Amino acid sequence: MRIVLMGPPGAGKGTQAARLVETFGLKHLSSGDIFRAEKASGSQLGKKLAEIMAAGALVPDEIVVEMMAKAIAAVGDDGLMLDGFPRTVAQAEALDATLKQNGTPLNAVVVITADDGEIVERITGRRACGSCGKGFHVKFMPSARGDICDACDGALTQRDDDREEVVRERLAAYKKQTEPVIAYYRTSGAKVIEVNGSQSPDAVTADMAAALRSLE
Ligand code: AP5
Repeated sequence: MRIVLMGPPGAGKGTQAARLVETFGLKHLSSGDIFRAEKASGSQLGKKLAEIMAAGALVPDEIVVEMMAKAIAAVGDDGLMLDGFPRTVAQAEALDATLKQNGTPLNAVVVITADDGEIVERITGRRACGSCGKGFHVKFMPSARGDICDACDGALTQRDDDREEVVRERLAAYKKQTEPVIAYYRTSGAKVIEVNGSQSPDAVTADMAAALRSLE
């Protein structure tokens, strides 16, 4: 199965992917995580990515397409959940071309929806463990131990691009550059499934699991 997971920043893509990939035997490839790993490596490319991401803008298509093609080739395209990629129509066309060449088309595009107001509250309250990466929210999914991870004792950290003014830029980029990707998939005949992300995390997981089961 090959799935593209879409939705505005903070819709719950990372949260739901972490809950579902194992059950459905999928490999989770998040473009944001891949860029943050490059940033952490301290490379020249990482420094460039850090600047773009801190401003809430999109990384240029040529960089994204090359990095994601490498990441997909490394894990193989049998059982994939792509999270955050593609994010422009040019990226979607590049992905389609690669999958077509490999004879491995997408099974579905799953779009998690959420309102702008919720998004800001969710993202500004997001925290992640600096050691094991477990995700939390100060209000909706708090750690039982406050600022300390309840899974591994690591310290909880906040992403540089999770400040409110940057979130608003990310949301604007999503509406302008990424929403047209959903229209692109609808016109190209791909199966597009919408899941209501404005429910409790467990209810969203249940809806997503039902959607994925329908594709098996
Ligand atoms: P990326 O890392 O992909 O960020 P994003 O798409 O903005 O998504 P997020 O990770 O912020 O949100 P999410 O939907 O995963 O939400 P989460 O589950 O954490 O991209 C970052 C940057 O990289 C971009 O801005 C861009 O610069 C660059 N980039 C990446 N891909 C690119 C591409 N293809 N092209 C160009 N540039 C690219 O949930 C959020 C919070 O809400 C958490 O705290 C969680 O606990 C909580 N929460 C989750 N679900 C619920 C719920 N149902 N109820 C209450 N709280 C919830």
